[in-house]
Amino acid sequence: MKGKILVEPHVDTIKMPDNLRIGLMVSEHRKKCRNLACNFDYFGFAFGQSPFHVPPPIAQALCENAKKGHYSDAEGIPELREAIAGFNKRHFGLDPDPGRIIVGPGTKDLIHIIFDIVQGGVIIPSPSWIGYSPQVKLLDKHFHTFHLKPEFDYRIQPADLDMFLSGLPGGQHILVLNNPHNPTGIVYTRQELEQIADVCREHDTLVLADEIYALTTYASGNFTSMGLVYPEGTFVTNGLSKDRSSGGYRLGSCILPDNDPGNLRDDFTKVAATVYTNVSTPTQFAAVTAYEPNEEIEEYFMITREIHRIMGEFMSTEFNRINGIKATTPEGGFYFFADFNQLSGDLRRSVVMTSNELMDSLISHPHHIATVTGDACLLEPDDYGARIAFVDYDGKEVFEKFRLNPPKTKDDELEFVKRNAPKMVNGARALREYVDYIKATK
Ligand SMILES: Cc1ncc(COP(=O)(O)O)c(C=O)c1O
Repeated sequence: MKGKILVEPHVDTIKMPDNLRIGLMVSEHRKKCRNLACNFDYFGFAFGQSPFHVPPPIAQALCENAKKGHYSDAEGIPELREAIAGFNKRHFGLDPDPGRIIVGPGTKDLIHIIFDIVQGGVIIPSPSWIGYSPQVKLLDKHFHTFHLKPEFDYRIQPADLDMFLSGLPGGQHILVLNNPHNPTGIVYTRQELEQIADVCREHDTLVLADEIYALTTYASGNFTSMGLVYPEGTFVTNGLSKDRSSGGYRLGSCILPDNDPGNLRDDFTKVAATVYTNVSTPTQFAAVTAYEPNEEIEEYFMITREIHRIMGEFMSTEFNRINGIKATTPEGGFYFFADFNQLSGDLRRSVVMTSNELMDSLISHPHHIATVTGDACLLEPDDYGARIAFVDYDGKEVFEKFRLNPPKTKDDELEFVKRNAPKMVNGARALREYVDYIKATK
């Protein structure tokens, strides 16, 4: 081989995901920060991983199944698809035939396959989770960015969606609907979903309902699956990564639209078999335990979503107290979105000219605040916004403290955050200082 190995040009259109890139940037910063007074500490609001431990029954089941070294069915082992069907019935009132369920190595891979096999343009509402647009680009397909409005807390407005879809070329499309939403933390009501479904029916538009945060909805009864209101047009994806803190297990599921005569299932299985053969067999057997009724896992859901609620309420309130920042109020998951646009004049004066540069500016000395902004959230260059993840604490320890002595009043909750998440509390203070510094720049 002479010279450089040539790579297809579309691969150059994607970058390392920014939440991972920022991790590298932080370690670079630690090496590089020239200020002698710098303690190289930083405030980690960028990386959105569940801070908790894998629920013990799941970890134990993985050990017990370690010897299952055989290949298994590309669409998932039957026991697991049965267990996933039962789980969806118990928790969401969905009643999918196990034949409509496909198991994959995380929902990310399943989302990639959906984008791959479904014809038509992908509609990605912005702000968006960092994962969707690079996948569409990698497939060399087309996507349309649907900008959501801050005055509606970035909730999709059916009339706006109707107008947006009317402006697209005819034919089938697929709308990405992430609920609860990363990065804003909002949760759609059933009525909102019904209105969105009506618009989608009208415009021949499918929905990719990414419901990976469903069971982290703080008021758990408030979550409705899009699979209930638009069963004929919705792919529902979910998995073990967030509510069961098992992202590294790489296990997710997709429920196919209910009017599929079988060709979608066959296509899906064909692609899965071609690309990854099957999800690790021991993981699939362990996942049967993760989906079957289990009191310890139910308690785990209850405790972890309460901790997320307490942390999220505290952090978004603290951010909203900073003059110039408007934060969403999370209702599920472990993110909210902070709008910095009121500070745009001050930011430009400080030579922070784009939303991408906001991320660099926040991480620089002396602030060292790690966030995800700009292109990664599919924002316009002049839209200063940041995704804030509120998981920078020792999840296992905090879980145990909550289990033994849950806070009973709002004052207890405040104390709970201050004691258990001092880095996040200090991070909010650092952000206030950053804003003061930006405003003071002449
Ligand atoms: C909105 C959203 N969808 C999907 C994923 C991917 O989940 P998985 O680990 O199942 O691939 C994530 C993970 O960060 C996410 O935030």
